[in-house]
Amino acid sequence: MKTNRLGIPPGPTVAEARHLLEQHQEKAWLMMAQTYGKNFLYQGNLVTCDPRLVEALLMDRTHTQRRSSVYKYASWMIPMAPGLLFMDGDAWEKRLRAVMPVFTKANVDSYAECMHQQIEQHLAHWQENQLFEDLYTLLVNLNSSLFLKVGCGLNPNEAGARQLGRTLIDFKFHYMNTQSRLDDFGIGKQQLTRLPRFLQAQWHRVRKKRQLYTQIDALLNQQQKGDARGLNWMSRLREADFSASETADEVNHLYGAYNALDYVLTGALYELSKRPVLAETLRTEFRTVLGERGYPTRDDFRLLTHTLQFMKEVLRIYPATMAVARRFGESMTVDGITIPKGQETLILLHALHHHPDFWERPDHFEPSRWQSEPTVSYTYVPFLTGPRKCIGQHLAELNFVIVLNALLQTYSIEVFDTTIRLAPFMIPRFERKVAGILRRRKREAPTLSGNELNA
Ligand code: HEM
Repeated sequence: MKTNRLGIPPGPTVAEARHLLEQHQEKAWLMMAQTYGKNFLYQGNLVTCDPRLVEALLMDRTHTQRRSSVYKYASWMIPMAPGLLFMDGDAWEKRLRAVMPVFTKANVDSYAECMHQQIEQHLAHWQENQLFEDLYTLLVNLNSSLFLKVGCGLNPNEAGARQLGRTLIDFKFHYMNTQSRLDDFGIGKQQLTRLPRFLQAQWHRVRKKRQLYTQIDALLNQQQKGDARGLNWMSRLREADFSASETADEVNHLYGAYNALDYVLTGALYELSKRPVLAETLRTEFRTVLGERGYPTRDDFRLLTHTLQFMKEVLRIYPATMAVARRFGESMTVDGITIPKGQETLILLHALHHHPDFWERPDHFEPSRWQSEPTVSYTYVPFLTGPRKCIGQHLAELNFVIVLNALLQTYSIEVFDTTIRLAPFMIPRFERKVAGILRRRKREAPTLSGNELNA
């Protein structure tokens, strides 16, 4: 295979990549890695699913200190993007210090009961047989009430909070519309045909941004400094003297991050609808481990063996992003190839999680594979690892398990079409709406644990 001055295969042309994405959707990046190798060049970027490079890029501070220009470009292009993910240096550290106490394990654990109660309240409005047009939208609405409660310290039933929830959701759906974005990796000059829609969408985004600022300002003014309910991002940012517009940017950004959960939970329920026996196993495990309490905390995780294996497999099959962008802070030599300082790089998370060199039967959904850990390190990184990993991991895992338990105990799920693929965009979503029905179950008494049965 031909290589260039870096000694790395040149990879596909834009037209080839586009063709593969159209034909093979989410599988396209893995196919490129199999054709060109685990490292190849594409549009000047190094694209990698080589665990050695992944380890260096994630763990070595020389490569994590400065953000990739992909993020700088995004924060410049998207109104309200300037959030933690897009920042580096002192500005990132200052903001991280403000919000981090909310994300600590101990603090996250303290949310379990109130999250569970919030979900129960939400489910009380659903019907016996709750038809849904789109599972993802259903979960967006459910999780947004948790975001408002836990992340913003608001009562999701109050008018101001409800309005904020609607604005955040509206902005997110608008922003995720791939037809009005220009940052779709692999599309090339085709993007220019989207320019008019992009400009129109930007205008709406700016209007939404103003709305959000006004709403957050009003909510902050209602609360005096120090009287917020519990630890939350909004009050923490206010205490750290961030302006209303910076606070609004960050709240919106954290909401965007929270959205990863909506997608991952959609994947989880979609898989369970195909596997009623597995759904029943998880239900029984929850009942056995949780007993009268009825909701899980992080302390229960070590006993929720099947549930955690299931969650890991969902995160392997449905990583929240197809790839993350990084930049080499220093030059690095691997196998005689020297990657220069400043080289922009894409780490292909989806391809890492699906490469047949690292996984047996990679396309099969098999929670039991998690009876042991992967044989090659840095091939499974749904939340990344190292200095720029996801700071919401503890919260996301708790939220996942709490929602799963509440839904499984209350409903059986049926998805009408279980052949829906993922759209080929960098931030993956199901290509079509996932419609179906949730059928209410009779509440069952907690199952006695093995010890209790033997007593
Ligand atoms: C299952 C759900 C989630 C998954 C799989 C996930 C995954 C990720 C990944 C892969 C990144 C790195 C992105 C990059 O560097 O390009 C990230 C960053 C981040 N996540 Fe999550 N995330 C989830 C939920 C959450 C939640 C609920 C929050 C909290 C609101 C959150 C907050 C963040 C933040 C603030 C960052 C940026 C951290 C930084 O760059 O310093 N995430 N997440």
